[in-house]
Amino acid sequence: MGFIPEDVISQVIDRSDIVEVISGYIPLKRAGRNFKALCPFHNEKTPSFVVNPDKQIFRCFGCSVGGNALTFVMKHERMDFPEAIKFLAAKANIAIPEDRPEDKAKSDLRQMVIKANELAVEYFHNNLINGKDDEVLAARDYLRKRKVNAGCAKRFKLGYAYAAWDGLLKALRQKGFSDKFIEKAGLAVKSEGKSSCYDRFRHRVIFPIFDHRNRPVAFGGRTMQKDERAKYLNSPETPVYTKGEHLYGFNWAKASVEKEDSVVVVEGYMDFLRPFHEGVENVSASLGTALTTEQIRLVRRYTKNVVMLFDMDMAGQSATLRSLDLLLEEDMNVRIATLADDEDPDSFILEYGVEAFKKCLTEARNLFDFKLARLMTEHNAATIEGRAKICQELIPTIEKVKSEVVRDGYLLELAQRLRVKEEVVLRERQRLLGKPTRRSAPVREDAGGPRAQKNVHEDERLLLRLMLQSLDWVRVAHQNLTIEDFQDQMVRSVVEKLYELFEAEKEISLAGLISFFENDDARSFLTVCADEEALTGDQEQIFDDCLRRIKSVGFKAERQRLREEIRTAEQAGDWTAVRRLQEELNTIIKG
Ligand code: CTP
Ligand code: MN
Repeated sequence: MGFIPEDVISQVIDRSDIVEVISGYIPLKRAGRNFKALCPFHNEKTPSFVVNPDKQIFRCFGCSVGGNALTFVMKHERMDFPEAIKFLAAKANIAIPEDRPEDKAKSDLRQMVIKANELAVEYFHNNLINGKDDEVLAARDYLRKRKVNAGCAKRFKLGYAYAAWDGLLKALRQKGFSDKFIEKAGLAVKSEGKSSCYDRFRHRVIFPIFDHRNRPVAFGGRTMQKDERAKYLNSPETPVYTKGEHLYGFNWAKASVEKEDSVVVVEGYMDFLRPFHEGVENVSASLGTALTTEQIRLVRRYTKNVVMLFDMDMAGQSATLRSLDLLLEEDMNVRIATLADDEDPDSFILEYGVEAFKKCLTEARNLFDFKLARLMTEHNAATIEGRAKICQELIPTIEKVKSEVVRDGYLLELAQRLRVKEEVVLRERQRLLGKPTRRSAPVREDAGGPRAQKNVHEDERLLLRLMLQSLDWVRVAHQNLTIEDFQDQMVRSVVEKLYELFEAEKEISLAGLISFFENDDARSFLTVCADEEALTGDQEQIFDDCLRRIKSVGFKAERQRLREEIRTAEQAGDWTAVRRLQEELNTIIKG
């Protein structure tokens, strides 16, 4: 879906009642004007989750989440913004206009592909479960040999595709789908040089791939022959399937991923099925490739903790390494588990049992240990050159770690493990990155120093609170301050929106405003503002004080910059520039 018009968003918020929405998920108890409940977002024994029907907001005093009906749905259902809007719109009977006809056409097409996929899932599954032919018996025999029982096959909707050329085609044609569409959905292939089609999946065991909301988006077909060229045949890209965007099994795993607050990422279909069926349910498969940003973002809605467990062969290990850097960039916590040589999760569990498998997971190593161990086998740490190589390859990865404390610890440990002085590692790092060492120069205490910064952020937040109380203050602020005058990113993003609404002469409720922000900080700030009593005292005085201080910090920084430029110009003997800059400086000092 494309862009949703803002007035539709506001309409959806206004027509959804927060009490009704939230009580659809958790029992709410009346407490005075408000409602109370046990917070669904953290563990607690006494309720600190409060829903305020007047302001249409919720807030937890225990874990400080807060927001409106929309953000509640997003958080609880793990939906993104458009998903949640659509969901609430449907509840409130509001039609979301597809703004452009081609968007409508696209979304209709996707719906239809999903429909066809659903029929295909049923068709394949029915073949496998109820078929009586020798072919089907052979497929069941294959699965039995791989220790996949009927319960497992039913649970994951496994299926069977006949060897004939048109089994699925016939079934889908009967439901009114055209050959052209079936081909577009990736279920059939066009015969070369002819207009006719044939089934894409033939003579294979079928693994349907569902998206995280349980809609079938693609298929994988496993050959039962040893010498077949392609062991797995997968759906091509279709209107509902882009390679690398889905994780196989995540639809079944997500409840457990949430509960365990971690996910084990494996490579293959069977590497998902086996542990899941044996009770390790927080597992998903990337399907034979390194993790992608899309997959990581999907996982991140549920947990920040990832255990990588790829095959122990070359391909698996190099995919692991490629995934690691991306995981770090996305600020995930990652550990790497290893199995005995040449095993994959499926074969390992069959051989050693699920308890041994769990043990491997608990023994998973952090990124630093994993990569260092690998580099130690690749290079000879007993030689100077070997140590240099190890440093060169490990430092860039360490630098991707977001936490400075952790980075620091790793650099120190690297020095110890290589038996070199820490300064040597630090200098090497500096040389590699062209950056000064971590113990960087002290922050200047004037204009931008931390103290001034903290105060200015407080002033800005106070000013914002005034603006949220009355649109009059938005007007006054708009006259006096530009967006760039605000230093605090959160404040800046909210003010930007307020200015935009002001310029468009639109009014909006606080609850409505919350929906525009994805950033949790901004949301909880807005919720707290909405929930707090109005600022008492002389609002004009407060406003003026804040304004003056915000301006003066800005001026201070500007003065500092001008003085430096003047000095450079003086040194260069560029007297016209000096005069121009001096004039600029004077106007600021006077103003
Ligand atoms: N894969 C694929 N096409 C192939 C080979 C592999 O799509 N020709 C994907 C599959 O998703 C597969 C994963 O990569 O599950 C891992 O490949 P591999 O380790 O070779 O297969 P296994 O998962 O071990 O397959 P099986 O257990 O069925 O032998
Ligand atoms: Mn395998």
